[in-house]
Amino acid sequence: MTPDTSIYLHIPFCNHRCAYCDFNTYANQESMIPDYVNALIQEIKFVENQRVSESASQRDNYSTTELSDYRTIHTVFFGGGTPSLLSGPQFASIMDALRAAFTFTADAEVSIEANPGTVSPEKLAALRKAGINRISFGVQSANTEELRMLERVHDFFTVIEAVSTARKAGFDRQSNGVNLDLIYGLPEQTLQTWQTTLKRVLELHPEHISAYALTLEHGTPFGKWSSKGLLPLPDPDLAAEMYEYAEEFLENNGYVHYEISNWALDHGQRTIDRDSPSKVNGLPSHACKHNLQYWRSLPYLAFGAGAHGYANGYRYSNALRIKTYIERLTNPNSPISNLVFPLSPATVNQHKQTLKDDMSEYMLNNLRLVKAGVVKSDFRSRFGSGLLEVYQKEIEELLVVGLLEKKASENSEAFRLTKRGRLLGNQVFLRFVE
Ligand SMILES: C[S@@+](CC[C@H](N)C(=O)[O-])C[C@H]1O[C@@H](n2cnc3c(N)ncnc32)[C@H](O)[C@@H]1O
Ligand code: SF4
Repeated sequence: MTPDTSIYLHIPFCNHRCAYCDFNTYANQESMIPDYVNALIQEIKFVENQRVSESASQRDNYSTTELSDYRTIHTVFFGGGTPSLLSGPQFASIMDALRAAFTFTADAEVSIEANPGTVSPEKLAALRKAGINRISFGVQSANTEELRMLERVHDFFTVIEAVSTARKAGFDRQSNGVNLDLIYGLPEQTLQTWQTTLKRVLELHPEHISAYALTLEHGTPFGKWSSKGLLPLPDPDLAAEMYEYAEEFLENNGYVHYEISNWALDHGQRTIDRDSPSKVNGLPSHACKHNLQYWRSLPYLAFGAGAHGYANGYRYSNALRIKTYIERLTNPNSPISNLVFPLSPATVNQHKQTLKDDMSEYMLNNLRLVKAGVVKSDFRSRFGSGLLEVYQKEIEELLVVGLLEKKASENSEAFRLTKRGRLLGNQVFLRFVE
């Protein structure tokens, strides 16, 4: 069976740039939103035309590893930036374009990232009406001082209100639910303020929680202040303690730790894999299906400024700047003659994957799945060769130093990160980089 495809759409607008963030997003550019939405729709139509006009024999001829017809869509993700800055009708027009171009599965997960400071009951109701059924709020912290230092445009009361409004609008357990994003290892953060954040977040009963270690990004205010020694960051041991506390606290409260930075409830009302119940693959029912597509190295199409995609044997990405992106899609003179599916006039980087690239990325991605890990039989059916034929030396060394462990699953053996391996993930991943 060919796997279904996913779609990522990037919305690069924010009210204000948070002090730590280096995502491809721009403040005070909202006047370009109507043209941007139009360009997104042009890009969707263009890529779909390419897909239809290319014969199947032109596809997937480099290896056995790419397997989709790119027609059936089972997840869509509006990421940013702050997608919630778009209006209901703008979302409806993008969703109409997607539905005209692709076939959606009946249980397709359609997610949006939202800043809690940017939603209203009307906006959330319009998003549900447009077909969006999962919402991910950037919460980051429940502590007023921490939120101020991050330069967030909201406080925690706004978060409580936003979640309650989202519930009333129908983002509930019967839909694909609510995710809340958190960051730990923040300046001046203590174990106690982190514990309070987790406790207050659980009081909102989200189906899903993401908790990221703060990354200091070059070129952001946090990056600059830290290089001058002006950022009072917790030491690495304390940051590790925060992570370990989150692991224990969230698991004790019923959240399954299924990816290094992600936890979800398992209520069994949602199917993650058509042919395998969650208990078998170690994935809770409310795991994010869209992100699982990345972690399983499965294909996704990308639309929008700076969006990255992986399809038909290519990894590719689009022009970063909003204006350039719009121009490339709306200028009739844009060069299109050499473009193959899934590339568009907005593509600025493209890499034709080798089998080695795909195998290496497969390891890096699947090892992030802390319970499932890399399953030997899945590796063989994907690549046609045995996991230990390709990576015996790396796996054995990592087993010896206690960063990987072997797990016997029902049908096949798997290898996954140990508790220590989760803290030292980069050391593990480096072993599989070409
Ligand atoms: C693209 S943002 C989308 C959410 C929305 N824009 C907001 O911030 O409310 C996705 C998430 O990435 C995380 N993030 C962004 N920059 C980060 C950094 N430097 N370190 C750790 N996490 C970061 C935050 O948790 C954020 O909610
Ligand atoms: S609102 Fe989200 S995307 Fe925008 S700057 Fe802040 S963290 Fe980054």
